[in-house]
Amino acid sequence: MGVVPAGAAATAVPATTATAVPASTGRPYVLLSCATSIDGYIDDATGERLLLSNAEDMERIDAVRAGCDAILVGAGTIRADDPRLMVRSARLRAARQAAGLPPSPVKVTMTARGLLDPQARFFTVGDAEKVVYCAGPAVDKTTELLSGLATVVDAGDPLDPARVLADLAGRGVQRLMVEGGASVHAQFLTAGLADELHLVVAPFFVGDRRAPRFVGDGAFPWHPGRRARLAEVRQIGDVVLMRYALSERCPDGVPG
Ligand SMILES: NC(=O)c1ccc[n+]([C@@H]2O[C@H](COP(=O)([O-])OP(=O)(O)OC[C@H]3O[C@@H](n4cnc5c(N)ncnc54)[C@H](OP(=O)(O)O)[C@@H]3O)[C@@H](O)[C@H]2O)c1
Repeated sequence: MGVVPAGAAATAVPATTATAVPASTGRPYVLLSCATSIDGYIDDATGERLLLSNAEDMERIDAVRAGCDAILVGAGTIRADDPRLMVRSARLRAARQAAGLPPSPVKVTMTARGLLDPQARFFTVGDAEKVVYCAGPAVDKTTELLSGLATVVDAGDPLDPARVLADLAGRGVQRLMVEGGASVHAQFLTAGLADELHLVVAPFFVGDRRAPRFVGDGAFPWHPGRRARLAEVRQIGDVVLMRYALSERCPDGVPG
């Protein structure tokens, strides 16, 4: 794991501009994580958060988070789910600290409009560094809105996930977990910017087309003529985890 420079937590103004990291620098390893219903929905159509994983799987996700340098969700997920995005296990937090890392990974989001609630748990829970990648036109107002809570980075217009990854690499992030939602997952997948997918299927149907699916329409690099590599299948209580290797960087078998 890469170490994000200490002392950078909860920095605010001024906004910085995403650096153009040379291709030779590489991008972080990108692990996508998602839970769906049997019929492929990632939420229902109510305003309440839909619980898809079970307790045992939440522990697994906690361990995956603990193995990453940063966790990214879209602004839509912050608004819909108000996630904490922290490592919950005291043992795992302590292990990170013993390795010279912050207790929880850096929290990262992307926004075009900058309509983020400063009271969201993304910003208020835990002392992890928070980085907001913002499209150019909304940078000034977002920087003012999140003053003292997050580092706002001007990521251009339109905001490009590849540029976000390059900037994160420049900040020392070597391993990034992307936890959704649908729009963000689709962008990393269609852009070929994902190395690994953890897809958990919960044992029920949502059956409501108003609810969001894992991803919408798009030109995905994996299709009937180019199948993804299934690296692992694991039953976790009443859910099943499928781990897909989406690049040569992803190892087969059970991850360490
Ligand atoms: N089951 C699961 O594993 C899981 C995990 C996470 C989320 N979810 C569900 O997913 C749903 C949310 O998904 P979503 O697709 O609506 O939202 P999302 O992917 O979380 O976020 C979309 C928002 O992120 C910003 N954004 C994304 N890409 C951008 C880009 N290239 N440039 C600029 N801004 C960009 C925009 O924010 P602005 O609107 O601020 O400009 C956009 O509206 C919720 O129902 C949530 O419960 C499920």
